[in-house]
Amino acid sequence: MSYQDLITNREGPVEYLTLNRPDVRNAFNQHVIAELTAWAAATRESATRGELRAVVLSGAGKTFCAGADVTWMTKSISYTEDENRRDAMAMSRMFAALDELPVPLVGRIHGAALGGGAGLAAVCDIVVAEEAALFGFTEVQLGILPAVISPFVLAKIGRSAARELFLTGARFPAARAREIGLVHTVVPTTELDSTVERYVRELLSAGPQAIAAAKALIPQVWGLPVDEAMPLTAAAIASRRVSREGQEGLRAFSEKRTPSWSQHLMDTKDTKDTTDTTDTKGNVLNQTRE
Ligand code: COA
Repeated sequence: MSYQDLITNREGPVEYLTLNRPDVRNAFNQHVIAELTAWAAATRESATRGELRAVVLSGAGKTFCAGADVTWMTKSISYTEDENRRDAMAMSRMFAALDELPVPLVGRIHGAALGGGAGLAAVCDIVVAEEAALFGFTEVQLGILPAVISPFVLAKIGRSAARELFLTGARFPAARAREIGLVHTVVPTTELDSTVERYVRELLSAGPQAIAAAKALIPQVWGLPVDEAMPLTAAAIASRRVSREGQEGLRAFSEKRTPSWSQHLMDTKDTKDTTDTTDTKGNVLNQTRE
């Protein structure tokens, strides 16, 4: 599938997805929303066929994403409330589709992630940001509010941080974003790509169906009392244990060998200029550089 405002590069089982409207700092309008929604549907199918195991989301040019396109939103002044609701529902569906992807989504944040851009960070499973990156739920500064992104952001940062940051619209640094759980790792710009790649390698060393099941389990169990969670969690682990992938993983551990799904990491070990991977016990191994 080809896109106008997105760049997609597939490298083996990893998709590199880049927002590509650098002149407006990758702000998204109706068209980007439609493309991202279509991309998410195609990606879900590709993941289901087992062709895809991780996605890295980044932004072209100076900035990850400046949120919703203000020029596009300004047009909404002439829309009725119903038309605005339809627009917002389309944006909500896009965020939900990204949030529910059955493969891990790794966010690579440089420059700024503001408004809906911070919302995109919130639907990523793993977020790596450069030290200088700026974040903010700036909507109230424009007289609007971070409504569509709120379920995803609240799930990441909780109520207290949201009360401060949604209400002030203040911009805050990557270190604060990490403190509140929006970002997982903050690194110097020069280490942004290598850190993202380290996460990707870790993801490729784990069972793809196990990752999908773990990702699906989190929203199912979150907030449930333990006794209500129990049948769900018991069913989840039982289905993994009897699955071909679960049995292969458990057997590989006992037989002290690499499970089939990460065999390619071992195959490329001698030729790639990489540093760390994990052994069957999850210990980090240092590989020799060429
Ligand atoms: N929507 C539409 N256009 C936007 C935009 C947005 N959200 N954010 C930036 N742009 C445009 C600017 O209007 C400018 O256009 P111009 O070249 O025609 O003047 C261009 O992108 C570059 O912006 P500029 O501010 O000069 O870039 P910068 O690199 O110095 O700063 C940001 C980047 C993201 C920090 C800054 O643009 C910004 O704060 N944007 C607003 C973000 C925001 O509040 N988003 C929430 C929307 S709900």
